Amino acid sequence: MARIKIDPDRTVGTLDRRVFGGFIEHLGRCIYGGVFDEGSPLSDERGYRRDVLEAAKGLRMPLLRWPGGNFVSGYHWTDGIGPREKRPRKIELAWFTEESNRFGTDEFVEYCRVLGTEPYICVNMGTGTIDEAQAWVEYCNGTGDTYWANLRRENGHEEPHNVKYWGLGNEMYGEWQIGALEAEDYVKKAREYAKVMKWTDPSIQLVSCGLSGLTDWDRLVVEKLAPFVDYHSVHIYTGSDDHWSNVLAPHQADRALRTVRATIDRARFEGRIDHPIHVAYDEWNVWFRERTAESELEEHYTLSDALAVATYLNVFARNCETVKIANLAQMVNVIAPIFTSEDDLFLQTIYHPLRLCAEHMLPVVLDAYVECEKHALEDEASSWPHRVADMGPFDVLDVSATRDESGSDLTLVVVNRDPEREARTTIALTDAAFAGTITAYEVTGDEPGAKNDFGHERVGVSERSLTAEGTSLEHAFPACSITVLRAPLA
Ligand code: AHR
Repeated sequence: MARIKIDPDRTVGTLDRRVFGGFIEHLGRCIYGGVFDEGSPLSDERGYRRDVLEAAKGLRMPLLRWPGGNFVSGYHWTDGIGPREKRPRKIELAWFTEESNRFGTDEFVEYCRVLGTEPYICVNMGTGTIDEAQAWVEYCNGTGDTYWANLRRENGHEEPHNVKYWGLGNEMYGEWQIGALEAEDYVKKAREYAKVMKWTDPSIQLVSCGLSGLTDWDRLVVEKLAPFVDYHSVHIYTGSDDHWSNVLAPHQADRALRTVRATIDRARFEGRIDHPIHVAYDEWNVWFRERTAESELEEHYTLSDALAVATYLNVFARNCETVKIANLAQMVNVIAPIFTSEDDLFLQTIYHPLRLCAEHMLPVVLDAYVECEKHALEDEASSWPHRVADMGPFDVLDVSATRDESGSDLTLVVVNRDPEREARTTIALTDAAFAGTITAYEVTGDEPGAKNDFGHERVGVSERSLTAEGTSLEHAFPACSITVLRAPLA
C-alpha cells in the first residue's frame, strides 16, 4: 500500500499560472493550417480556425510565445506587417520552407487577445539587428508620435499592443540556429539588445536565452545578463519508445531547475542584483519521434507521453519558486496537443493532463510526502539537448499537491507510471479533514502506447465521485494513469 501525506500548512510556494503557457512557431502546420487557415470554412473572418481556438481555450494558457523557435533567427518582423498582399514571400532557412508572412505581429497580438492570453515575443538575434529589435518594441508598445508607433496606428492599431514579455534570441548556442554564437559573443550582443529594448519601454520583461540550465552557457549567460533580465530560459525535451524512460525522463527538468536556481542565486549574490530572476522554461514537451524538418514535427502522442507531460507539470509545481513561466512546445499540429486536418480536429492524449492541470491546480503548492515503490532507469532516458540522464530511482507515483488560499480546496495530481499495476494508496491529511464529495478525473487507456486519432479517442477523461471519511481516503490509482483529485477540505 502506498501512502501520500498532506499537511496544508507545509507550503512550498506559489504556483504561477504562467507555467501553463503555450508556444506557436512558423513551422509546418502550426500557424498556417493550425492557428490560421484563411479561406477554410472552419475559420472566422480573420482567418483564425474556430475549432482550434475553442480547443486552445480549454488549455487556459496565460501567455503565448511566438514566432519561434528556430524560425525567429531568420525572421524580419517588418515583412509581416501592413497590407497582406504586399508582404514578401520569402525563403525560410530554419525549416527549409517558404514563409508567406500573412500571419505577422498584428495577427499574433490579435490572436492572443481573442484567446485571452498575453503575447510573448522572441526577437531575432541571428540575422536581426539591435535596430530591428528596438523598432519591434516601439511598434508594439510605443505611445509617442514616432515612426514605428505611427506605423502601427496606420496599420489599424491605435492603442499599443503592450507586449510585456520579450525573449533575447532563441537557442543561440546551437549549430542548427541561424547566426549561432559562442556564449561570450551572445552575452555581449544580448546586453546591447536588452539596453535599447528596455530604454524603449522600461516596463517590458526580458528573458535571456538559456540551454538546459546545467551548462557553462547557462552559467555565463546568467552571470553576465543578470542585471538586464527578469527570466532565464530553459529548453529540455524528453522522450523514448521505452515507457519507463519516457515517463521518468521529465525528472531531468527537476535537476535542471535545481541547478539553474543555484546559478541564479549565485549571480544575484555576486552581482548584488536586487530584482528577482526566475526561470522561463519556454520550450518543453515530449518530442523524439518526428525530428526532421520533412516530418514537420507532427508527433502522434501516446498515453505514456501523457503521463510524461503530467509529470512535467508536477515538476513545475514542485519547483514553483524557481519556474514562473513555462511554454509547452507547441500548440497545434507541431509536437502539439491539438491536431487538425482540413476539416477536422482531434485532441491528442497529452491534451487531457494539460487541460486538467490548468483547470484544477491551485495557487498554493504543498510539500506532499510520498511513500511508494521506486523505479530506477537502466539506460539513459532520452532527452534533448542533453542525453545525460538522472537515473533515479524515482517514485513510481509522481505527486503534486496544491490548495487554494483559504485552505478549503485541495488538488492532488497523481501519476501512476507503472504500466501494469494499480497503486492502492492511502491519502492522509494532517490538521485538515475531507469535507464532502471528492471528484476524481482520470486519464488512462488500454495500453501505454494508446493514441487518439480523428473520430477515435482511446485516451480521454473519465470523472467520478469519491467519498472520504475524516482525514483519510483510500484509492487505487489505475496502472498507467493520471488522476486529478479535487477535494473540499474542512
Ligand atoms: O519546438 C521546435 C524547435 O525546438 C524550436 O524551433 C527550437 O527552439 C527547438 O530546437
